[in-house]
Amino acid sequence: MKILHGGNLERAEKEFGIEKNTWLDLSTGINPCGYPVPQFPAELIRRLPSQELALESAATSYYQTNSLLAIPGSQFAIQTLPALFPKCCIAIPRIGYQEHKVAWEKSEHDIFLYSDDKLDELEASIVAGKVNIVLIINPNNPSCLLIEKTRLKFWLDELEKRNAFLIIDETFMDSSPEHSMAEYLNSSNLVILRSLGKFFGLAGVRLGFLLANKEICETMQEKLGPWAVSGPAQWIGIQALTDTAWQKNNRLYLENESASLTGYLGRILASELIEINNTALFVSLILKKDLATSLYKNLAHQGVLIRQIDYDTRHSILRFGLPGNDEQWSRLKSAIKLFLETRYS
Ligand SMILES: Cc1ncc(COP(=O)(O)O)c(C=O)c1O
Repeated sequence: MKILHGGNLERAEKEFGIEKNTWLDLSTGINPCGYPVPQFPAELIRRLPSQELALESAATSYYQTNSLLAIPGSQFAIQTLPALFPKCCIAIPRIGYQEHKVAWEKSEHDIFLYSDDKLDELEASIVAGKVNIVLIINPNNPSCLLIEKTRLKFWLDELEKRNAFLIIDETFMDSSPEHSMAEYLNSSNLVILRSLGKFFGLAGVRLGFLLANKEICETMQEKLGPWAVSGPAQWIGIQALTDTAWQKNNRLYLENESASLTGYLGRILASELIEINNTALFVSLILKKDLATSLYKNLAHQGVLIRQIDYDTRHSILRFGLPGNDEQWSRLKSAIKLFLETRYS
């Protein structure tokens, strides 16, 4: 199955005939004002990368655990993890980053899809021992659901009783590290994925971390082989993970921008909204499918790209990434204004 991702401007150019460099791309959850990468030493591109102890120590301090492994983006772990487990039943969110489902399907595991609004059903399956692995995306992309730590800890304890696993994709967790489950990594049954692609806005650097027990990290290291994370990626990771002042300012900046976008979309589309939710990096609206499709297409014809994701047979999620400056804000606002004028005139 071919999965569509945000940020695919080549595809948008083909579909809407608008040159790829002219789009306002709000179709991803990547920080538009990401970490300002300093010039890295030129020798890093000439020699083979060794595993930098400085990166391990920066990550240990940032993620608050030393049970970790640097990987070329959390996507690598998503694709690789299914092969590390014997055939079993895994619970996966119905709405969520689809690469997870596809990877577990490919490895022929049984899949139980759970819904955000039916976590009690998931909990009952965990307690009854009906699932061997539970996959959580926290907070969820695109639904924005954030599951409380106390609940996750209860699930982890239940799963651990029969050596079942809790895998948490915390790719969007950096803005609210107090919700991370990393402090429970003394449990061998917890696996966490992290990324420098979203909050740090370094998606192209391809750097992420697997936080897991020693055995899983070692097996994953074997799958990676030598030199999987490039020298420049490691160097950039060290700068970004240790720059606590930038992280603090960025958290504040993203929180304000996301609140402004949520407020604006909530007001302007108030009469049409079924639901609106946000994370620090994107805002998701649930709308009737025909309205969502015409808003998506209308914005696209004006060169503004967002994401439309199926929610159910009658509804879609429209996900908006954050505009990165005043000019982008005005472009988004005038595009939505024009859509509303044409729709209701
Ligand atoms: C929820 C989630 N997890 C993981 C990824 C993969 O990110 P990366 O490989 O850049 O770390 C994405 C990318 O969009 C995502 O949305």
